[in-house]
Order: sequence, then C-alpha cells, then structure tokens
Amino acid sequence: SLGVPSVQELARSLKDVPDRFIRPELELDIVSKDESVPVIDMSKLVGGRDDEEDELAKLHAACRDWGFFQVINHGVAEEGILKMKADVQEFFRLPLQEKMEYARLPDDIQGYSASHVVPRGRKQDWSDFLYIFPQPRDGRNLRFWPRVPSSFKETLNQYSTEMKKLNTALLSFMARNLGLEPEKLLSLFEGGRQGVRTNYYPPCRQANKVLGSSPHSDLAGLTLLTQVNEVQGLQIKRNGKWIPIDPIQDAFIVNVGEMIEIMSNGEYKSIEHRAVVNPEKERLSIATFHNPNSNAVIGPLPDIRGKDGKKQAPKYKSMPYQEYMTERLRQKKKVYDEEG
Ligand code: SIN
Ligand code: FE2
Repeated sequence: SLGVPSVQELARSLKDVPDRFIRPELELDIVSKDESVPVIDMSKLVGGRDDEEDELAKLHAACRDWGFFQVINHGVAEEGILKMKADVQEFFRLPLQEKMEYARLPDDIQGYSASHVVPRGRKQDWSDFLYIFPQPRDGRNLRFWPRVPSSFKETLNQYSTEMKKLNTALLSFMARNLGLEPEKLLSLFEGGRQGVRTNYYPPCRQANKVLGSSPHSDLAGLTLLTQVNEVQGLQIKRNGKWIPIDPIQDAFIVNVGEMIEIMSNGEYKSIEHRAVVNPEKERLSIATFHNPNSNAVIGPLPDIRGKDGKKQAPKYKSMPYQEYMTERLRQKKKVYDEEG
C-alpha cells in the first residue's frame, strides 16, 4: 500500500517524519565537492569546427570515466524548457484531489504517485512523481496527461520531441566515439519507449535523515535531466564519495544508463546516483529516459573496441530487451519504477 497517497501532503502536516523514511546510516556517507562532472559544449560537436575533435574526446572521457556530464548549447529552445518547468510546477501545486485524477493504477508505472512501493524492510523515498510515456506517440495513454494547466499536453508533447532529438544527437556522437556506425546504435533505440518522470521532493524537517531518491543506477539508454528550480539535490557516487551536481542554468544533466553500458561492452558506465532533499525548500526535477526498441537484442555491439583500440571479448551476455528487463527488475526488486 502507499501509506499516504502523497509525500507532499505528509510534509505539510505537522507530524514527525515517519520511521519508514528515516535512514540513520546516511550520517556515515562522505559528500565531497572536490570534483565536478564534465561539461560538454554541443555547439562544438556540430558543423565541423576546429575544436570538434577535442570536444568529442571530452565527451568520450565523460562517458567512460564519469558516466555523467552536463550538456550546454544543446540546441533545445529555452522557451520550451521554461514552459515545461512552469507547467510541472503548476501541476504539483494543484490540490491533492485534482492530482489524484491521474493516480497511478496498481500494476501500472504511469501516473501520479508517492515514491516507489519498495519491498518490505527498505526505506521509502521522500518524493512524489508523475510518470508519463510520451513516445512512441501511438502508445500514449492520455488518461495520465494532466488537463490542468491547460497547456500541459502541448508543452509535454513538444518537450518530449525535443528530448528525443537531443537523445538521438548525443547517441550519434557517442557512436562515433565508440567506432560504431551511428545507425547501428540509433536503430536499437528507434521506436523505443520514452519515459518522462517529473519528481517532486517536498522540504523535510529531517532532511539529512531521508533521501528523495535512493541510490540506484538507471536502466535505460540515456537519461536527460533538468532541474526545475534552484534547489540542488542530485549526487553521484565516485570513488566511494557522493559528489553533488551543481546544475548549470539551461544545461541538461546526461547520464549513461545500463543499456548503453552493455552495448558499449562496459566502455561507458552506468553510475550510481541519488537525490537528497532540502530542509526548507521544495525541489523538482524532470528526468527523460530513452529505452531500446522492445524488439532489440541487448548485448555488446560487435564493433566495440576497448581503450587500446582492440576488439574485446564480450563482457555481458546478449538477450532480448524484454527478457533482460524481466530479469533485471527481479534483481532490483523495484516494482513500479521501470527505468530509474
Ligand atoms: C533520480 O535519478 O532518481 C533523481 C534525479 C534528480 O531528481 O535529480
Ligand atoms: Fe536516476
């Protein structure tokens, strides 16, 4: 059961933070600001500029050594991003009753919900979300698309299209870096499902004892994340420490998911990350996941070469996407969160 339908409502009440959210062990974690994720300037990767090769090399290193980067000058019009942020904020400001019109149904992933239903014994995340699959278009279930604000549908439609384009562009650069025909990588994602997960993290009076998002690595191909307001929270695991990400205005935070890790035969890594919450301020983020085509066979691509430029033996087994997901979700024991 969900306990309360919304952590946002719970945070508003004057009650203590329930035990099912409290994680005393967080005190032991080391947070380090000594390093920050690489920043990739996409304008340098298009149009045959002199610095193209350098920026491609930087992107390759970011995917290999970090699994995370921020992308600037990505070509997504600011207006569309701002609209998406505004509409998402407005949605979460609606009274609970109105948000519940889009409530996730049992056995579905899409919809409005408190954070994941976790197996017994695990702690609950201090967050709510609205999860929608905008792509492929013919797979849309408009039941979960908010009717308020009235612009939401069109805003999400456009945002989703832009994210799909950005995903394709980034994948082609990565393919070049991996010595692949871009088409070979792109075809595996063509027609694949795109998930847009908007996250709402209420303020928490015991912020240092809860997590907005438990440590996990993403399953999909690439995740494109935008932070909605100025409140930080995303942290990535690096050399045993948690590194906070300081989002650049208008940038997207990109991370390599497990599908790309496998296709790249481990050259690129899907990195563990989490989200912390703020004692006074709400935080919102929008994560867009890009999944392979449901008919794709997931495995190391034959042309992948290692650091030394030589072909490597496959480090992962190959299996159909559906089979892979079934196995992986069983391992993760995350019932409702497919990609995150
Ligand atoms: C997540 O990856 O689960 C959360 C990302 C964020 O809210 O920054
Ligand atoms: Fe994630």
